[in-house]
Amino acid sequence: MAEDKPARLATRPRPSHRSRSSASAFSRKLTYMQPGGPYDNGRLRLAANIVEMDLPVSFPTVFATFGRDSQVVTEEIAKHWPTLPAALPLVSAGDDKSLLITCKKPTATQAALFGPGQVGKWLHYPKSKESIPLKDEELAALEVGGVPPYMAMHWVHVIPLPILKKLLVLFDALVAAGVEFPEADFRRSGTAALHLGVWSLYARQPRITADSHQTMISNSTQRARVVAAIDALCMIVKVHIVPKLVELMDEYVPGQSRVQNRIHERVTRLLEEDFRQRPTMDFGPVFYTMAVKEGSSERIHVDWNDNIHKYALIFCAGDYTGGEFCVPQLNIRIPLRPGAVLAVRTRLLAHCATLVGQGRRLVFTCFTDSTLLEQTLRGHEYALV
Ligand SMILES: [Fe+2]
Repeated sequence: MAEDKPARLATRPRPSHRSRSSASAFSRKLTYMQPGGPYDNGRLRLAANIVEMDLPVSFPTVFATFGRDSQVVTEEIAKHWPTLPAALPLVSAGDDKSLLITCKKPTATQAALFGPGQVGKWLHYPKSKESIPLKDEELAALEVGGVPPYMAMHWVHVIPLPILKKLLVLFDALVAAGVEFPEADFRRSGTAALHLGVWSLYARQPRITADSHQTMISNSTQRARVVAAIDALCMIVKVHIVPKLVELMDEYVPGQSRVQNRIHERVTRLLEEDFRQRPTMDFGPVFYTMAVKEGSSERIHVDWNDNIHKYALIFCAGDYTGGEFCVPQLNIRIPLRPGAVLAVRTRLLAHCATLVGQGRRLVFTCFTDSTLLEQTLRGHEYALV
């Protein structure tokens, strides 16, 4: 029988794709990509599933200061938008549609604050009320194509539910291992979030966050167990979710990738040894820090450490009611269901989430802090103190 084998193999026809020339593969690709072809049709179907809403002309600009004053945010919101967050109209483009909030026709006041060429007013450095104009090359890196085209983007059915279930299991394992949470930030919420990954806050160079190292745990065995549990959680995000986020951002805000790649080049150079030991801390160019918490950030706030130009990417795991994302300035409440992803400019829009009613809600907020971006952009290192 063994002698028959080579003969059978010799007569077996070769797989058809090997016999085709690369020229024919190229022509198939052309057919696929041509107007009216499958690729084009797919894009049209996607576009048909998008609902756009424009920024209201009344959109205010009261937070365009370096004040970092949470009290101002609370007072201004209460004065101009007294509706309780939970009572804001729930905006939903439908279960299978994406929602894009645009700013196609800004008023003169809006354009003067966040229109083309205005991002310098929102940078942290130097810590001054004076705006320092960006150099041409800095502006080119940050403002490819003008300004970010959307205030917020909400996509549904992005993350498969089994992946979200896995995150919930791994979060529980992390808590069971004895993870230490930092103090809650009272301006955002009564509950604390873990900040995992890399940031540059209050430092001259990017570094892996203290929460990721769990240096507050004195018992080395327990610390090692917790760090391993953090790595397991981050690995799932990195392998199964980050590629989807990259795809979405490349599709919807392609102008962002140039500066994000520059940040990544700098971070991987400076943290080469750290990433060799903890590869899960490198989420790639689309974001650098991931805040993880159970519950919601129920107090209206502006994320002062983010950048006006950048999007925070938010997704949730669990089975819960409530936890909608509220933007009083836009008079909307966005449902944030498991599987959906919300990209939102959290330095520009004051926001909060409604309380979770029933069930458990694990929320992941992925962002790039403004100091990290500005250090890269300005080409020198400084600390915001
Ligand atoms: Fe926030």
